[in-house]
Amino acid sequence: MALLPNPFRALIIGSSGTIGSAFIDLLENHPLCSSVVGIHRHSENNLDYQNLDSIESCAIALGTEASFQLIINTIGVLHTNDWMPEKRLDDLNAEQLAELIKINAIGPALTIRHFSKLLDPKNSIMVSLSAKVGSIEDNRLGGWYSYRASKAALNMLIKTASIEWARTKPNAALIAMHPGTVNSRLSKPFRGEQIGRPASDAVADMFRVIESLNKEDSGSFVSYAGEKLPW
Ligand SMILES: NC(=O)c1ccc[n+]([C@@H]2O[C@H](COP(=O)([O-])OP(=O)(O)OC[C@H]3O[C@@H](n4cnc5c(N)ncnc54)[C@H](OP(=O)(O)O)[C@@H]3O)[C@@H](O)[C@H]2O)c1
Repeated sequence: MALLPNPFRALIIGSSGTIGSAFIDLLENHPLCSSVVGIHRHSENNLDYQNLDSIESCAIALGTEASFQLIINTIGVLHTNDWMPEKRLDDLNAEQLAELIKINAIGPALTIRHFSKLLDPKNSIMVSLSAKVGSIEDNRLGGWYSYRASKAALNMLIKTASIEWARTKPNAALIAMHPGTVNSRLSKPFRGEQIGRPASDAVADMFRVIESLNKEDSGSFVSYAGEKLPW
């Protein structure tokens, strides 16, 4: 039985991003969504993964409101002003690896910890955007060491938390989701405009998958098309 109730209240984390803001647009116009709240680094209640303490403070501030039946975390980085994804082993460096693990794995994992308290215990779904390149089994091309490792770490953290949730939150599903290649700030240096889909198409597909999720799907890694991906 589908887990997402009717109506549902949604929280989009990273709503300043391309995919995050497209989720806001979709849910603001969705008949079953009673309200959608967006948070990011500069929102009224804000969180910044450079300051990991901000995650708990933000969750506490939002905890005074009604609970959420759907939380989607879209925060993630692939490149910064200082560096691009590594092409070869000689590009690998501690600073870049530590930074990506902080933003793509530690921040999202602490978000699962603190924001899970805002979920409706009756029926709820938490989705964290991962990436297919974080799949160890599917890694055929190599390269992008820090991004791949950070998303693989995120996947393990999601899987581990989902096992605990089966005991502590039996009516909630925790999901790692791959959005596909989307034309966004993140993909722009990698021909994202040419090979990526519009974010509106990607979020429409991802939402169709979210609507069909049930309890048994918790702890899985799924694509925008609903395909189960190998870890
Ligand atoms: N685009 C793709 O093709 C693709 C493919 C696979 C997976 N993904 C995943 O999808 C997610 C969304 O990507 P996108 O394409 O929408 O990228 P985007 O447009 O660059 O958005 C990234 C989001 O992450 C936020 N962010 C970055 N660093 C942060 C920090 N230190 N603290 C808090 N927020 C921070 C950004 O906030 P600011 O606006 O404040 O910078 C923005 O909201 C990411 O997790 C990405 O790994 C994307």
